[in-house]
Amino acid sequence: MTKSHTPIPFIDLKAQQRVIRPQVDRAIQKVLDHGRYGFGPECTEFEQDLSNFTGVKHVLACSNGTDALTMLLIDLDIGPGDAVFVPAFTYIATAEVVALRGATPVFVDVDVDTFNMDAADLKKAIKAAQEKELKLAGIISVDLFGQPADHDAIAAVAKCHNMWVISDAAQSCGALYKGKSTLCFGLAATTSFFPAKPLGAYGDGGAIFVHDDKLKRRLENIRVHGHGVNPASVESLGLTGAP
Ligand SMILES: Cc1ncc(COP(=O)(O)O)c(C=O)c1O
Repeated sequence: MTKSHTPIPFIDLKAQQRVIRPQVDRAIQKVLDHGRYGFGPECTEFEQDLSNFTGVKHVLACSNGTDALTMLLIDLDIGPGDAVFVPAFTYIATAEVVALRGATPVFVDVDVDTFNMDAADLKKAIKAAQEKELKLAGIISVDLFGQPADHDAIAAVAKCHNMWVISDAAQSCGALYKGKSTLCFGLAATTSFFPAKPLGAYGDGGAIFVHDDKLKRRLENIRVHGHGVNPASVESLGLTGAP
């Protein structure tokens, strides 16, 4: 006799909708009524809620977690000759954004228990990059499967070599490291709202978490194709939405 198996969906958004569907329908209706589809009042409210939730001063919502990382690399002017250290085990986007900028992703082995960047191997990877005469630019740490990276150890190595750290928290929105949100760490942190993520959207979405006021202002420009306060002018190259 053959057994029949009911496949368990990877992302069961229907189960979630059975609980929250009326609220979702009302919220979509509200947006259709007022017609501000990009960066409307719901977006501002969402950014404020995320800021309150994480304790990070500025939150900038954007198209997805890949754009969130890319916008930071644009601001940091990362390009050919720069080494950016990434974990050898992560989703491709972490390394892809570095390669898309023409920089070199340098892979760092992961810890056997957490699958996250191993700070001891990071030191070896730095040595290897120096031997290849790459400029040590920065580190993108990842909190894989919601497990926080070894943020203190990574920050210590970064400080020794005058490198920035970006925390790719695409998979860890809501996770804590030593009592603090994983979105607090580094120069900035990024996350993704892809439907399978801990805070999944019905479609794509992402955000950047920034403490510094000046960096936040520059990212606001980059987020709207480089338009500054005057939408008729362009101050830098950028990505994503229209002002
Ligand atoms: C670790 C990691 N970084 C970055 C991303 C990219 O996020 P998005 O799919 O929203 O562009 C993902 C998404 O799967 C991810 O898992």
